[in-house]
Amino acid sequence: MSFKTTVATLCAFGALALSAGDMPVYMDSSQPLEARVQDALGRLTIEEKVALIHAQSKFSSPGVARLGIPELWCTDGPHGIRPEVFWDEWSQAGWTNDSCTAFPALTCLAATWNPDMSALYGKSIGEEAHYREKDVLLGPGVNIYRTPLNGRNFEYMGEDPYLASVMVVPYIKGVQSNGVATCVKHYALNNQEQRRHTTDVDLSDRALYEIYLPAFKAAVQDGGTWSIMSSYNLYKGRHVCQNPRLLKDILRDEWGFDGAVISDWGGVHDTEQAIDGGLDLEFGSWTNGLSEGKKRAYDSYHLADPYLALIRQGKVDTKELDAKASNVLRLIFRTAMNQSKPFGSMNSPEHLAAARRIGGEGIVLLKNEGGILPLDVNGKKKIAVIGENAIKPMTVGGGSSSLKARHEVSPLEGMKKRFGNDVEIVYARGYAGEQRKEHDGMKLLDLTDSRTPEELIAEAVDVARDADYVVFFGGLNKNPHQDCEDSDREGLGLPYGQDAVIVALAKANKNLVVVNISGNAVAMPWVKDVPAIVQGWFIGSEAGNAIADVLSGDVNPSGKLPFTFPARLEDVGAHAIGEYPGNKDALAASKQWGDTIPEYYHDDIYVGYRYADKAKTTPLFPFGHGLSYTTFHYGNIDLDRKPISPDGRLRLTVPVTNTGNRTGAETVQLYISDEKSSLPRPLKELKGFKKVVLRPGETKVVVFDIDCSALRYYDDRIHEWVCEPGKFTALVGASSRDIRGKADFKVE
Ligand code: BGC
Repeated sequence: MSFKTTVATLCAFGALALSAGDMPVYMDSSQPLEARVQDALGRLTIEEKVALIHAQSKFSSPGVARLGIPELWCTDGPHGIRPEVFWDEWSQAGWTNDSCTAFPALTCLAATWNPDMSALYGKSIGEEAHYREKDVLLGPGVNIYRTPLNGRNFEYMGEDPYLASVMVVPYIKGVQSNGVATCVKHYALNNQEQRRHTTDVDLSDRALYEIYLPAFKAAVQDGGTWSIMSSYNLYKGRHVCQNPRLLKDILRDEWGFDGAVISDWGGVHDTEQAIDGGLDLEFGSWTNGLSEGKKRAYDSYHLADPYLALIRQGKVDTKELDAKASNVLRLIFRTAMNQSKPFGSMNSPEHLAAARRIGGEGIVLLKNEGGILPLDVNGKKKIAVIGENAIKPMTVGGGSSSLKARHEVSPLEGMKKRFGNDVEIVYARGYAGEQRKEHDGMKLLDLTDSRTPEELIAEAVDVARDADYVVFFGGLNKNPHQDCEDSDREGLGLPYGQDAVIVALAKANKNLVVVNISGNAVAMPWVKDVPAIVQGWFIGSEAGNAIADVLSGDVNPSGKLPFTFPARLEDVGAHAIGEYPGNKDALAASKQWGDTIPEYYHDDIYVGYRYADKAKTTPLFPFGHGLSYTTFHYGNIDLDRKPISPDGRLRLTVPVTNTGNRTGAETVQLYISDEKSSLPRPLKELKGFKKVVLRPGETKVVVFDIDCSALRYYDDRIHEWVCEPGKFTALVGASSRDIRGKADFKVE
């Protein structure tokens, strides 16, 4: 019996054996949470409090066995439940019962623009976490997509604070309805992986509040997350895990967060700063396995013996310790000691169906010239499937989000299952990326191919030439310097010479479909030569099925891009006017890897489409873009044009009609433009969206209520949100660059 089960059993017996009057308050779930926390706190010794606030293994903290307060078990996150690792190491423990459902990466979830999908995702992954006896799911991630080079964008929800805020909330509620906490990450300003431990971010308060914080704030205030992960980077000279401005002033005082702040693994550097900086629970210090760390490493954690020593020497008092222990107790009561948890489940048919449905709804049809999609196999003989990403498992790799999926349907398998009875499916590799042999101690599928690029292209062209359709699966993968933690991409282009393969295929066969598998924007120099392009994301267990659903038309695509595909890197604010990957002079002067590098976000609030609008660039594909196999007509906007007061609200309606011959879903987007303001503002900002399903010929009226929250900006001179009187324009569109109607109104 595990310690956890023993304690849980003790709790249950305790509850049975004691009469209601005898039961300690902290054990009695009918008592108010705060009373339980205070009661437990009063029973703890200083040593027990200190033990509560740091790890005892890679992913667990010890609880208090003497009082029947169980261990707290964390797991990555955010796309599935990570396989078990050894007590002190990252290597997988080789269990045989820890294979999970891999859900689509969060970029794909964000691309559904559908909060119901987010709720389904949260509920399903929460059930898997609960089944595996985990108390804290290390996710979701909501760092804003500032540059397409960030290796971890695939784990996040795109470039827009409003979209990420709306999508994160149902995920949290769904997970937590299982008695499992979300740990929303990486708070805050962890917008790149390169030098993630040493980048010292600085930016205006305006950019902080308008762009980088809203999704975290929504996670706290609307989602009610029970924990939050402080990030590796520094902010204004101090590591975020020890940063009182972010962890105390903003998170606790401004937003009223009552959960626990958990450090990113190995993110704590200094005991005194960690004590007064607002951190509650320290994980992962000396993260490379205890063999490379200190002896008795957990006792040596900053919030362990060094903290106790400071208390015993009278150098710090126990006020902060009580606050930290209370926050951790609250987290344990909400999760590990939650007596009303539903049952969990793992790999259920429902979870696989959810993964497939979310995947299908998130896939984005970027281009479909001549209506080549959906593939019509009537009377056809052959589909050529080309590309390494048609066969490469994508649930493994990428860093801490790597999974051991019980199964993963590859795109090639999905194509064979869906079309193989009607036509011949032939496969050619086309290109070969670098192959990794193992991951976290586990052997990987061997895809080594010793042929030259020319030989691979020649074979692909040969296979493609007489096919009725050619479907190329390429993009990025989960290797370092691609969509992968701890490194950034080295450029916007596709790796492994894929551009040459695509150009050769386009010449050989005009019926070419390119499916880009990635969590990031990529350059497409061949965009004009390829009639159909699909953004296929990392979809997880059901990837091949979800993609075949869309290519066949069984699912009518309705995903929209949660970030801009820039035509060039220079069209991205961070690269054009900001600093990345750090201040140039500091980088040049840096002598060693561990040097702190300042990075000022001169791009300010001009992130994603906000910069594209300001610089008047034409993106390859704009934010919010996504096509369907049907067409939609937007009717006239109706808007109450009476001037409104700053605390009033205004109703905008727009009828949308399905003008094609298939049922389809359209995401109607509302952007607001402030015509004149005291501070410069983006040309427009997303402030609402609604996804509607329409049968052929059907019309639905989409309703938006516009209030002050959609009109205001953050004035950092007075540290306040301001809704300024004046003229505004409401823009309704199918993407940020496909505006179908406008109406202006006044605030008085
Ligand atoms: C990552 C976190 C992750 C943690 C535990 C860190 O390296 O940044 O996102 O949850 O490891 O695996």
